[in-house]
Amino acid sequence: NKAPVQVKVVLLGDSGVGKSSIVLRFVADNFKSDGEATIGASYMGKILQFNDKTIKFNIWDTAGQERYHSLAKMYYRDANAAIMVYDITKKGSFEGLKKWQKELADFGPKDISIIIAGNKEDLVECEATSPEEAKAFAKSIGALYKKTSAKTNYGVEQIFRDLAAKLFPE
Ligand code: GTP
Ligand code: MG
Repeated sequence: NKAPVQVKVVLLGDSGVGKSSIVLRFVADNFKSDGEATIGASYMGKILQFNDKTIKFNIWDTAGQERYHSLAKMYYRDANAAIMVYDITKKGSFEGLKKWQKELADFGPKDISIIIAGNKEDLVECEATSPEEAKAFAKSIGALYKKTSAKTNYGVEQIFRDLAAKLFPE
């Protein structure tokens, strides 16, 4: 019985894209349609069995509202992984990722593993962003790209498994 491997993950992205909802779904298999905007940041932990490893994800869910922007650095600067989230129905939220990517590149850990999550996949009929563009952007920064829905649970655990696979290649 080995001690779990600790992995620090930070979620970044505009307010309202569903960062807290993704974490709530992953950690507690729950969804709230009337959740409140995060103030500052919040922490949740979750243990996941991955191959022969026990991984403890220490998840820091940051606030997307502009007034908290400067706080995010405290959370990403020693993170192993970042989940950059946008809302597939909001073009501006995809553009917002470019500023987060630049900031991570400038001030974040050099070896941070990044996954881009196009959230609200359940609203795909209202998609306002191009998945091809998102994929190309992800590829250009060495990140993975996946769609998720915190509402339906589509792809949520998978993004954490993808990060684990990236961090602990066999
Ligand atoms: P900040 O804390 O302000 O940065 O926002 P956030 O990114 O944490 O967003 P939050 O998780 O609070 O979600 C914002 C709104 O989107 C809430 O009303 C959620 O119920 C809704 N939402 C989140 N994920 C999904 C999803 O996958 N599908 C749909 N339809 N709604 C979602
Ligand atoms: Mg939040």
